[in-house]
Amino acid sequence: MSSDERLIAEIAALRKERNAVILAHNYQPGIIQDIADLTSDSLELSRKARETNADVIVFCGVHFMAETAAILNPDKVVVLPNASAGCAMADMITARDVVRIREDYPGVPIVTYVNSTAEVKAESTVCCTSANVNRVVASFKEEPALYLIPDQNLALYAARHTDKTIHYWKGYCPIHHRLTAETVRRARDAHPDALFVAHPECRPEVLDLADVVTSTSGMLRFAKASSHRSFLIGTETGILHALRRDNPDKVFYPVSTEMVCPDMKKTTLADIARSLETLTPRVHVPEEIRLKALRAVERMLQI
Ligand code: 13P
Ligand code: SF4
Repeated sequence: MSSDERLIAEIAALRKERNAVILAHNYQPGIIQDIADLTSDSLELSRKARETNADVIVFCGVHFMAETAAILNPDKVVVLPNASAGCAMADMITARDVVRIREDYPGVPIVTYVNSTAEVKAESTVCCTSANVNRVVASFKEEPALYLIPDQNLALYAARHTDKTIHYWKGYCPIHHRLTAETVRRARDAHPDALFVAHPECRPEVLDLADVVTSTSGMLRFAKASSHRSFLIGTETGILHALRRDNPDKVFYPVSTEMVCPDMKKTTLADIARSLETLTPRVHVPEEIRLKALRAVERMLQI
């Protein structure tokens, strides 16, 4: 038995003993995706976290994702197997910044990408993910203007799908923001038959070159349903594992092999086994912040 096989067996036994569910984001390492009960995008993972009957949620992703699960499940134990897995974009705005935005833009609803801290969510009107941002924006029927935080690229993407004025914070995901139109053009020249599928966290000039713009699970659904055979993938490379596993007859190329999120790659099998054994590192949100953040997350889930 290899050490991975031993750890996988250990995780299976502990998962049962603890009545735990293992949720993994689509960017997690392949081996983690394979042992998870559900691998998906931020929206579906939030939904699953709300619906689960498990006592323990092991969130294989980054801190804000486990925090969202904790916001929705105050009575469950939520663990993030590697406590240092954070999100560079979530760290680009603070709750204080949001309070200042509210003062500067009185009456303008604040739409906050789930890639944000609980404190930031607590100061927001509603949350959104890359999968539902346009629906969330459209749900504000009367308001002529909205303020989107913290991702400028997601905000500019949303602005293309609405007549409302979209104000935005100038945060970004370093992994998606560094992808240039020039890199996409080169990749397209190398694979002229491939469809280019991009994540809304990419720059507008990159999205201009895309055949499809969608969330990570949107990419999985699109690739499966498409009669096309080859695809250039414009997001974090972890998703290639699921794309290739689900579509053995199709070909997937990363648009850039540099699109790797180091925080998403921190989770190991040993971390998960330890988390199940010790129920640490536990993610806990102070009740006052949790209740305020819950309003914004619930409002999103109801849309
Ligand atoms: P989605 O899986 O919701 O598309 O999110 C992408 C992301 O950046 C998560 O960190
Ligand atoms: Fe944050 Fe970008 Fe990593 Fe997602 S891919 S966790 S947005 S830094």
